[in-house]
Amino acid sequence: MNTEHLKKIAAEKATEEIQEDMVVGLGTGSTVYFALLKIGSMVRDGLNIIGIPTSSGTEKIAKEQDIPLSTLATHPTIELTIDGADEVDEHLNLIKGGGAALVREKIIANASKRIVIVVDESKVSRVLGTSFALPVEIVKFGWEATKRVVDKICGQSELRGGIHNPLMTDNGNYILDCHFDGITDPEKIELQLNNIPGVVENGIFVNRADRVIIGTMNGIEYME
Ligand code: A5P
Repeated sequence: MNTEHLKKIAAEKATEEIQEDMVVGLGTGSTVYFALLKIGSMVRDGLNIIGIPTSSGTEKIAKEQDIPLSTLATHPTIELTIDGADEVDEHLNLIKGGGAALVREKIIANASKRIVIVVDESKVSRVLGTSFALPVEIVKFGWEATKRVVDKICGQSELRGGIHNPLMTDNGNYILDCHFDGITDPEKIELQLNNIPGVVENGIFVNRADRVIIGTMNGIEYME
């Protein structure tokens, strides 16, 4: 079984929680992609739901899959969100933002009654920040100054895409990927980073996931 298969079984398992007439938050990434394909086929088979996408990329895939879409303006409460993660610890804390969608993902998470995270087993980690650099979205203006302050917290960060071709998020901002030597107090670091002028949001998600579905070589595993 390769990683793609592990992503697929986790993502498809999560779609079993979707019920008729639900408003569903649609996450971003290569794992959620398999959920979008499955939801598309459920919709074509007659399921009635409304999706709220977390990125322009997901919006495009959802449209291709005939999933009806709406916005938080029209549907401010989301019953269930299915999203991916880059790192998950045993307390269900997450690092997200590898796909640069962390701001919209956190807004959607905040509006969601239930959040199910889908990952393959490589994403499970004892301490966050040991296998994945933490994405931090920052505004373009004065980004060098913002980076200097961010680096005081994480030690070292890189502008995603590099200075000659920086990646631009759906919100028109930059991403710093911050290399920690482990994040032992994710709640504190999340708040510290978000307190820096110029930082829009960071990819630490504390106490937000209700369930993590893990695709493993031995089948599906759960963290609740
Ligand atoms: C998007 O910004 C991210 O939060 C993704 O959900 C996360 O990077 C997981 O993506 P993959 O499923 O592609 O690993």
